[in-house]
Amino acid sequence: MIHQPPDPTLVAAAVQDALDTWGREPTQLLQVLRSAQEPLGYLPPAALDLIAAELRVPIARVRGVMAFYSFLYPEWPGTYRVLFSDNVTDRMHGSRDRLRELCERLWVEPGKVSEDGLVSIDRASAIGLCDHAPSLLVNGRPIPDVDAARASQICDLILGRVPLDDWPAELFVVEDLVRRADVILTDPMRPGDAIRAALERAAATGKGAQATLDEIKAANLLGRGGAGFTTGVKWESCSRQPVTPRVVVCNADEGEPGTFKDRLLLRRHADMVFEGMTVAAHGIGATQGFVYLRGEYRFIYDGLLEVLERRRRDGLLGTSICGQPGFDFDIQIHLGAGSYVCGEASALVESLEGKRGIPRNRPPRLAEKGYLGRPTIVNNVESYCAAALILLHGAEWFRSRGTARSSGTKLLSVAGDCERPGIYEYPLGVSVREVLADSGARNAIAVQVGGPSGTCIGQDEFDRRIAFEDLETGGAFIVFDGSRDLFEVARHFAHFFAHESCGFCTPCRVGTSLLRNLMDKISAGKGSLHDLNTIEELARLLHHASHCGLGESAGRPLLGTLERFRPAYERRLGSHAVEPAFDLDGALARARRVTGRNDPGAFLGDTP
Ligand SMILES: Cc1cc2nc3c(=O)[nH]c(=O)nc-3n(C[C@H](O)[C@H](O)[C@H](O)COP(=O)(O)O)c2cc1C
Ligand code: SF4
Repeated sequence: MIHQPPDPTLVAAAVQDALDTWGREPTQLLQVLRSAQEPLGYLPPAALDLIAAELRVPIARVRGVMAFYSFLYPEWPGTYRVLFSDNVTDRMHGSRDRLRELCERLWVEPGKVSEDGLVSIDRASAIGLCDHAPSLLVNGRPIPDVDAARASQICDLILGRVPLDDWPAELFVVEDLVRRADVILTDPMRPGDAIRAALERAAATGKGAQATLDEIKAANLLGRGGAGFTTGVKWESCSRQPVTPRVVVCNADEGEPGTFKDRLLLRRHADMVFEGMTVAAHGIGATQGFVYLRGEYRFIYDGLLEVLERRRRDGLLGTSICGQPGFDFDIQIHLGAGSYVCGEASALVESLEGKRGIPRNRPPRLAEKGYLGRPTIVNNVESYCAAALILLHGAEWFRSRGTARSSGTKLLSVAGDCERPGIYEYPLGVSVREVLADSGARNAIAVQVGGPSGTCIGQDEFDRRIAFEDLETGGAFIVFDGSRDLFEVARHFAHFFAHESCGFCTPCRVGTSLLRNLMDKISAGKGSLHDLNTIEELARLLHHASHCGLGESAGRPLLGTLERFRPAYERRLGSHAVEPAFDLDGALARARRVTGRNDPGAFLGDTP
């Protein structure tokens, strides 16, 4: 059964449906492409031509956008497209064995489509299920906890050509493992409570929207996406821009490998997220809102649409929200398409505009000129939840938790070598040791706090605290026990950054590849002390010369492990002198074979 190109009427119908849903503005290009691809399985050239014509954009732009996002397919990816999550936690729990088993039974090479067009098997960067590693996506639908039995069941279903909708439903059940709940995960807030509280405060103080901004500032809410920027300052700066309308964006890209806490908030506490966005809209005077949801979370999308619809019916979105004339705001959900850099706020805004997710030059900041040149705030999912609670309970209540500099609580996504992976909500300031004890992590030798772009700490630092004044984190907390090789962990992260670099600026494009190659060279036993020094130099150069946070952080896992776990590198070194990575004479062997030469002139050195 070789795949036949789809019937032109099917292509036209898929494109029409996508256009009917998203409209014909060029800003909708990415959403139209994604949407048209769903029924077709891929985007044949005829679909691209139609989309380019209908949106009135050059075909080169359509192709450029296609090429940027890894979840848009220009060719048939198989009736079943299997994507193994490839975070370090997946590997720790056997993903490579599972991938090999599937490839062997289904007769397909990784990264290729089987000859009969039935299936392809590939890897994707972490898919947000590290608490259920190893995990995978089949045609975008997640399957957690893929042990050998599950892998075999998946093979049977594929070989039996069972339509995905008829696969056993339990395969797709993703459990949210809440291990410790604090104020966010236990608050009984009802839809509208925080908005009404904000409106009442605005009226009672006579300050209007400024009262909302003042409360967020007084709470000292620092952004939960990782960088810890002061939310109140960002919102106020946006609110002061003379241009309207303004825009509220929720960053639900959750791309940092090891993080999955936003998944829980979006599935179980969506009202709180939307409530936070709506109070933000009140504060900055915005009318338009977006949730940028990572493509891997497609399975959450429909549930979010339902919550939005209910909120519209209940007068919590739309015009005159909560009966307040002039308070108009609505939210649209845009899906990403498999690009880590799109989590970076300005790349995300580019992607929202239907373009490739290349980070912007700053200034201007997004608060001045963001989505379509409008003043825009971008905040993490958890930041909006915290904002809703601040408006409901007040800044003082919020500050009563956490430390003097880091108020409130933080959700941690705990995974790796521990008995109880899952979500833990703690007041900021909790020690790493306490998290390890609670999660049943025995024999931990290291923790990667904040994912690959965060910090890897060793046992002597387990008393350090999760707080903005000590260990900053967007939420990832990956535990490694004594059986793990931290060099291999760092090498995996080097591959991750080289793969995810968007290629826009030279230091990052070239630097991440060089770092990956050096780590591979050392892994192959061909490294030298000179290479370790080069890694350090390159990592520093990347930090200072890169255009965005991806390149800035790309060398961190290597610098951190080199500093703390140097023996893991040194025991692999072939020699202490310079070792070439490339065997020139070996590379000539094929040419010698082809030309039948074996004379001394065909060798670089002595004839063997
Ligand atoms: C490469 C890269 C990826 C990022 N990914 C995310 C992400 O998935 N989610 C997120 O909230 N912030 C992410 N950020 C940080 C955002 O740029 C931005 O700082 C954040 O969304 C602001 O929200 P906050 O102030 O509420 O933390 C990323 C940054 C970089 C450089
Ligand atoms: S630092 Fe890397 S990801 Fe960021 S713009 Fe440059 S190439 Fe792209």
